[in-house]
Amino acid sequence: MDAIVDPDGEPTPELRDWKPWFAAYDDPESPLVKRLAVVQQGIRRALDEAPAGTIRVLYLCAGEGRDLVPVLAEHPRRADVRARLIEFDPVIAQVARDRVSAAGLEAAIEVVTGDAGDPALFGDHVPADLLLLCGIFGNISEADIHHTVARAAHLTARGGTVIWTRHRHDPAVVLRIHDWFAEAGFADLWQSDAELPTTIFVAANRQEREPAAPPPSPDDQKLFTFIR
Ligand SMILES: C[S@@+](CC[C@H](N)C(=O)[O-])C[C@H]1O[C@@H](n2cnc3c(N)ncnc32)[C@H](O)[C@@H]1O
Repeated sequence: MDAIVDPDGEPTPELRDWKPWFAAYDDPESPLVKRLAVVQQGIRRALDEAPAGTIRVLYLCAGEGRDLVPVLAEHPRRADVRARLIEFDPVIAQVARDRVSAAGLEAAIEVVTGDAGDPALFGDHVPADLLLLCGIFGNISEADIHHTVARAAHLTARGGTVIWTRHRHDPAVVLRIHDWFAEAGFADLWQSDAELPTTIFVAANRQEREPAAPPPSPDDQKLFTFIR
């Protein structure tokens, strides 16, 4: 992989251009479209089951917002939703913003261009009632997955839902992720059909505790870095 040099002189991996990846959403036969249906069903369920009042949503590495935006556009609780989508690529973030505007959801969804690993961007969207971690765990190290799941305990309200995805090429990793959610105080809520292709695994966990106290280490530590 090519390298670029950061301001401190350390070579860092060049960021992948994710723009072409989204074309698979336009192919009805693609596994990504099957994954989309599962994620959207999960978002709908989380909104259906959210208690009365404001529903805080935080979506890290949100891409074009293809999952959340259409669900919210048709959901009876949309006026209660305060969602923040964080996406690094400004062109992709603008696509998401355009989708939000086209759906008339500007009051409910804000798209922030930036590094979703940086907790400074989460603002008052945490603790979230719905935390979306879709399309992340296949692109970061296992240590960063573990760290992100542990930090999800601080980022999710009691009763809140985390929806996450990971391919199942190495099923042991998925089992470890389940264990890390349990350690962090989450119950298993649902998972996608094991008959789906191994490229697709979607699961949801529910936070059973009050958000954990911040860890003694600096709470502004980045959650993850993409390595693919
Ligand atoms: C696999 S795609 C998933 C997009 C979306 N979550 C979905 O499932 O359709 C990964 C996305 O994460 C974005 N991304 C990569 N690193 C990021 C970072 N540090 N902060 C925010 N977004 C990032 C990419 O630009 C890309 O849009």
